[in-house]
Amino acid sequence: MQILLAPMEGIIDAPMRQLLTALGGYDACVTEFLRLSDGELPARTYHKHFPELARGSRTASGTPVILQLLGSDPELLAVSAIRAVELGAARIDLNFGCPSRFVNRKAGGAALLKEPQLMAQIVSTVREALPKEIPVSAKMRLGYDSPDNAVDIALAGAAFITVHARTRADGYRAPAHWEWLRPINDALKIPVIANGDINSVDDWRRCQETSGCRHAMLGRGALMQPDLALQLRAWHEGREIAAMQWPEIRHLLPRLLEHYAPNTRGLSARIKQWLGILRLRHTGADAAFSQIRSMRDMNSVLATLVG
Ligand SMILES: Cc1cc2nc3c(=O)[nH]c(=O)nc-3n(C[C@H](O)[C@H](O)[C@H](O)COP(=O)(O)O)c2cc1C
Repeated sequence: MQILLAPMEGIIDAPMRQLLTALGGYDACVTEFLRLSDGELPARTYHKHFPELARGSRTASGTPVILQLLGSDPELLAVSAIRAVELGAARIDLNFGCPSRFVNRKAGGAALLKEPQLMAQIVSTVREALPKEIPVSAKMRLGYDSPDNAVDIALAGAAFITVHARTRADGYRAPAHWEWLRPINDALKIPVIANGDINSVDDWRRCQETSGCRHAMLGRGALMQPDLALQLRAWHEGREIAAMQWPEIRHLLPRLLEHYAPNTRGLSARIKQWLGILRLRHTGADAAFSQIRSMRDMNSVLATLVG
């Protein structure tokens, strides 16, 4: 079983990847998407977006990091993937799932689900441009005529496919349609990673039964319950571990800040953003959120959190 940490633009950035993978349980994580729309990007943009490049494409705790690219021009994506590999990227993922209006106006992300030939062309062009040992994967939503899109991508040479079990029209609303993953998983020989609403061990048990998928990618669940990957891994090995509770989780918030460069702007907004997700699960986080929501000063926020 492989457990991946999902890419989440503006939330699961390099510091959050570092914090969560250090807790354990993950086989790999994926960067936020790097958009390629107006030509090639300078090396500094790759390093800023993907600072783990300087550490052999791994987080500080040694978890491999996969660079995610988003765009609709196969040649530009291929040239950019080559550049990323020259800079040290060891794995490339292609985003066919982003529902954002802005992204889709530029014909990337989920808009491509309507153009299966172009998606397959992107995968094969990037695949052929890179050395064989660099895996190329794809992340998509449920398509308009699944499982055909996924089959085309697999034939184009993807090493594995992550499927977010929602259509573009579903946005991020629950429930995810795990049952629609089954025909995709049945049709493909490459691994299919299930994604969407896997927020607990019981969710994963049901997702696995419903979809037939053996691998999981965790998004908001990983933020709500930071030890979720460890719990899934333990369950998979027939063990059970006590879930991390709020008194322990609250100490992770100041630890996240240690991973940002000094003077990074917007850190209290980052903490509030994470608390906004944690409060969906932990009443203690809900109370802390109410206390700090109007605070501007980072020291007051920290003093309140660590008590
Ligand atoms: C705020 C936000 C940002 C996201 N950014 C990305 C992204 O950069 N690349 C990507 O492939 N998916 C992105 N996603 C989708 C997630 O990776 C994941 O597929 C989705 O949240 C469903 O999984 P979950 O129900 O476990 O959260 C994003 C989702 C959210 C909510």
